[in-house]
Amino acid sequence: RIAFIRGQFVPLAEAVIPVMDRGFLFGDGVYEVTAVIEGRLVDDTPHLARLARSLAEIDIPNPFAAPEWTAIEKELMRRNGLRNGLIYIQVTRGVAERAFAYADGLAPTVVLFPQFQPVQYSPLTKTGARIITLPDQRWTRCDIKSTSLLAQVMAKHAVSQAGAHEAWMTRGDQITEGASSTAYIVTAGGDVITRDLSPAVLPGITRQTILKIARARGLTIVERPFTRAEALAATEAFYTSASTIAIPVATIDGHPIGDREPGPVFQDLYAAYMRDLM
Ligand code: PDD
Repeated sequence: RIAFIRGQFVPLAEAVIPVMDRGFLFGDGVYEVTAVIEGRLVDDTPHLARLARSLAEIDIPNPFAAPEWTAIEKELMRRNGLRNGLIYIQVTRGVAERAFAYADGLAPTVVLFPQFQPVQYSPLTKTGARIITLPDQRWTRCDIKSTSLLAQVMAKHAVSQAGAHEAWMTRGDQITEGASSTAYIVTAGGDVITRDLSPAVLPGITRQTILKIARARGLTIVERPFTRAEALAATEAFYTSASTIAIPVATIDGHPIGDREPGPVFQDLYAAYMRDLM
């Protein structure tokens, strides 16, 4: 695998980052994950816009303009022969003597590498995923795509211990979002419900696209918090992210959702999403 590390394309196995990088010491950085499907970067423009926003929110200068980012991504794809997979981008504040407060003028550290797992047509799109719920232990700025991911690391470990596929995180009785995905339920009346954008959730790029498709198909979208009890009573549930596109939910904490089959709303949205892409 070829990576882009601090300005150069190098074999990933040989890439090194200084120990004093603030990303390593403090998790002081942000990231993006963009899908590549059949050689195409999916939603590149909004991913780069969210990267710019995350950087601005934590006062790291954006090292590249959007067209420069895209050129690096495309060159990375070319050098790796990447047609189906993911591109990971990380920007940290840079290298400095360890101190919590940062100095102005640090040179941000930029890292990109590809991942080769295909994101579309997961077997889970047919079988549905097993979800567990657990408390959302993250900070209060979940709208920033920060590399400080301890709460999600612990959540995903609980997921694998439970033999499940994803965690839906709760604050009080409300579900905020998946550990690495946006959560949706469908009501008996056919409304699609997903939490409204706020600092409590990441503004999902796949969410933006799925909601646009859902509106175009005449579905009613309600952006509001929903509870675990509502999710258990839903006729369908699903989640979206760049790394999974869209996955239907079979069970939540062992309770079957709907009739367990991927529901009609999910199937329609997923098919439309894949069709629009090609
Ligand atoms: N995660 N919410 C959280 C907490 C996420 O980490 C992600 C994505 C999403 C979905 O956002 P998008 O549709 O833009 O991928 C929602 C990525 C895939 C990751 O951390 O690997």
